[in-house]
Amino acid sequence: TAPAAVIVGIDGPSGTGKSSTSKAVAAKLGLRYLDTGAQYRAITWWMLNNGIDVKDAEAVADAAGKPEIVSGTDPAAPTITVDGADAAAPIRTQEVTSAVSAVSAVPEVRTRLTELQRAIAAEAPDGIVVEGRDIGTTVLPDADLKIFLTASAEARAARRSGELGGKEAADLAATRAALVRRDAADSGRKTSPLAKAADAVEVDTTELTLDQVIECVVTLIEEKRSA
Ligand code: DC
Repeated sequence: TAPAAVIVGIDGPSGTGKSSTSKAVAAKLGLRYLDTGAQYRAITWWMLNNGIDVKDAEAVADAAGKPEIVSGTDPAAPTITVDGADAAAPIRTQEVTSAVSAVSAVPEVRTRLTELQRAIAAEAPDGIVVEGRDIGTTVLPDADLKIFLTASAEARAARRSGELGGKEAADLAATRAALVRRDAADSGRKTSPLAKAADAVEVDTTELTLDQVIECVVTLIEEKRSA
């Protein structure tokens, strides 16, 4: 008989290599992949486009059910659309990055996306790797494997500024400050904050290459599957 679908949650702050690791692991093992951060960014992008003041939690809550968000879960080519429009590029702008923590702190937004995420995970034929901030604690508390990735703020800022196109030292300090601020907001919010689940395996990636992190997670999944 075919092995049961395997559900993997990967959480952690930004710049720990969550997305690169999750995509690569899913591709290697033939699993689907879901980037829940992209969904929070997508709903934020819609709010900004529709003149919603993202600091106004009531306005954000009222609008939370309006945009239709669709995630494509092929790890080789993940996609995201909002009301049918391709959102992959615009959700990565500085404007969205600055606004996303406020929007994702609103409980109505979280409830909506959590339901969507659970439905996607339930439909994945062989299983899925879901990455985010609250997957192990809230979205998929019964996941087969929960990973919590960490890294020093220096390492995370260096990776993030590398992604942004290799900036100078001054930009590195600014990147580090923005990243620390966003993590503090994500960890400090009331509704399902960024947190390590009690039964998550913590992997500190500070001194590891991406390939080493991928290898580590693949091994953990294979151990679970054969257990
Ligand atoms: O992973 P990312 O940087 O693209 O995520 C963007 C933001 O979305 C992040 O600052 C916090 C929020 N987020 C969240 O609150 N819960 C998740 N499961 C995923 C992301």
